[in-house]
Amino acid sequence: TLDNGVNGLRVTNGLAKGIEKDLVPSAIAANGSSGTHNDKVKTRIKSKSLGNGHTPSTLTNGSQHVHKEGKKHKRKHQASPLAQRLQAEREALPIYKAQRAITDEIMRHQSVVIVGETGSGKTTQIPQFLDAAGLTQQGIIAITQPRRVAAISIAKRVADELGTKLGDKVGYSIRFDDTTSPSTKIKYMTDGMLLRELLSDNKLKRYSAIILDEAHERTLRTDILFGMVKAIQKERKDLKIIIMSATLNAERFSQYFDNAKVIYVAGRQFPVRTFAAVQRQEDYVDAALVATFQLHMEEPRGDILVFLTGQEEIDNLQKLIEENARNLPPKCPKIIVTPIYAKLPADQQAKVFEPTPPGTRKIILSTNVAETSITISGIRYVVDTGMAKVRSYNSKIGMESLVVQPISKASARQRSGRAGREAPGFCYRLYSEEAFDSLPEDSEPEIMRCNLASVILLLKASGVDDVVGFDYMDRPSRDSIIRALEQLYALGALNDDGRLSSLGRQMAELPLDPVYSKILIQSKAFKCTKEVISIIAMLSVDLVFYTPNDKREQAGQARKRFMNYDGDHITLYNVLKGYQSVHGDAGWCTENFISGRSLKQALDIRKQLVTFAERMGIDTSVSCGTDFDPILKCFLTGCFQNVALRTPTGEYKTMIGNQTVFIHPSSVLFGKKPVAVLYNELMHTTRQYMRNISVIQPQWLLECAPQYYGRGEAPAAR
Ligand code: CDP
Ligand code: MG
Repeated sequence: TLDNGVNGLRVTNGLAKGIEKDLVPSAIAANGSSGTHNDKVKTRIKSKSLGNGHTPSTLTNGSQHVHKEGKKHKRKHQASPLAQRLQAEREALPIYKAQRAITDEIMRHQSVVIVGETGSGKTTQIPQFLDAAGLTQQGIIAITQPRRVAAISIAKRVADELGTKLGDKVGYSIRFDDTTSPSTKIKYMTDGMLLRELLSDNKLKRYSAIILDEAHERTLRTDILFGMVKAIQKERKDLKIIIMSATLNAERFSQYFDNAKVIYVAGRQFPVRTFAAVQRQEDYVDAALVATFQLHMEEPRGDILVFLTGQEEIDNLQKLIEENARNLPPKCPKIIVTPIYAKLPADQQAKVFEPTPPGTRKIILSTNVAETSITISGIRYVVDTGMAKVRSYNSKIGMESLVVQPISKASARQRSGRAGREAPGFCYRLYSEEAFDSLPEDSEPEIMRCNLASVILLLKASGVDDVVGFDYMDRPSRDSIIRALEQLYALGALNDDGRLSSLGRQMAELPLDPVYSKILIQSKAFKCTKEVISIIAMLSVDLVFYTPNDKREQAGQARKRFMNYDGDHITLYNVLKGYQSVHGDAGWCTENFISGRSLKQALDIRKQLVTFAERMGIDTSVSCGTDFDPILKCFLTGCFQNVALRTPTGEYKTMIGNQTVFIHPSSVLFGKKPVAVLYNELMHTTRQYMRNISVIQPQWLLECAPQYYGRGEAPAAR
């Protein structure tokens, strides 16, 4: 075990043993968690050949195999060693033998759905097949990817395989980085980039085929593309649509594309033995460290792939592994750690694909990009933390941001599958079987999770005028679409004719609820961007102040330091300003009865908002100083529907709907009776409470929302 042998290994404090015991063959494996699992591998292979360093790597194995078998493998005379190696690897792919059949089917049909195990060669090979068949003479082949890293690394790979320079025949195009040239015929791009291109080329005239890859992920942008390319094909019969997916839900796609032909690419999947932790691991990064070293010390040759959630974790674990690796016994193989995540510089991303030198073991630390988007050779062991950073929507401000969440069962199966591509493999889940059972079967399509007004805005910005008639794969209700349209119109994002206004175009650039996009954009005119960004960030978190039962008095006193009687918005601004001035000091938070966790989150969101705003050319340091009216007016340009007026009896009625509402006791305005207020949230408990409230002047309404209040429509009637 870990304890004997590795001196000074940080993880020898019993946790290692814990995991050893905790990792038992799980019922998941026995049941066969995917169709290809079986239990042929009865016992774990014990370490014998570690470190002999002379056994050929799996890669060479693979090509030798082909060589022996392959009468097809003809050595090209002047081919470089790299070209030869790549050619051998191509020929070893399961898809290679099917080249003729696949090409024929695609050429015969307008649309096809291709399903195949990750790593079978869909993304890298199919565009080359079509190129060889002459399709690129009629136009470019586009292949969309939900992830930038995948677009970049796959384009490089394919350029290498074809022996051309990146940007020549093969290129990629992602936001702010376009490597394509007029000679580019095979173009890897993010789904967002193809949406953008549709604006200038609305019939996709430059393209002969659109390959929508990773369709199983059902990202919002890919979903919109489904509808758009389907519509374009009605007018352009020559346009080929190819949907590629790593999971078996092909029927859905096929039905949607008018019963498109489904092609199943035979995978080559060896059995994977899956282990689950007996108990929950408190710290999955630490657990991953232990599991990795245990594997390295005890198991035979084969690289290890560890799934983590993001750069910070990956950097951390890399450091820990490298520190501990120094204390390995001399006979142990060397460790090479190769990270892979979106922001990693391209030259370092390339390292992950380099063959593992003899006598070493590669440990790949990856985000979920290695789940289905990219395939790395040589992996026999997978360590799955069960977590991923996924795009999620902050329901309070509708902000699209990345949040760490447990994965779905489908993802867990994909991850374990990565271990069995070249030989029988092992997957170590750092979570229990019960935890696995409680995971959702599949993740919900993004379009179902996010703010519908944002979706409609994106559709409009992509050139879809008829958003009600749009052919959604998963259709939102007609009523909710109409409501979203009305809201966008009221915000001024749409003109009278229902088309996007220039303001709307700007709003579509921001990944926020359109209400907050508008406020952020308007902050430029009101000269209060600095404050507005802080307040939006603060509105995104749940709990700012807390009041322990035994310290009500002190907590109340502390809160007074930040209070502003214009209302909660300015008060929240004061809190974040205070937090920034002490650089997030935890003691300061405790003293002031403020949730450090919430403030940290708010500051993180603030940072992201600053990036978005600056990209749009908004100066985020512009401040209105001590005159807070511009801030509240600015909020009113977006939240004008959330206004309540005091009645003669001292109650509050909402301007829209005329409902009775109350000032929440947590508000600084509790007990005060301003004539008019703006609020950000309605909370239904025993009564309808307004939360996050500020005082406004009724005459501001006309000034700030003329489109809404200036038309003589009685808002109360709406
Ligand atoms: O799309 P699919 O998952 O079916 O497979 P692919 O991405 O086309 O990968 C096919 C092969 O290309 C795999 O064996 C990968 O190891 C290899 N590949 C690579 O070595 N380097 C890359 N940057 C991309 C793919
Ligand atoms: Mg692929």
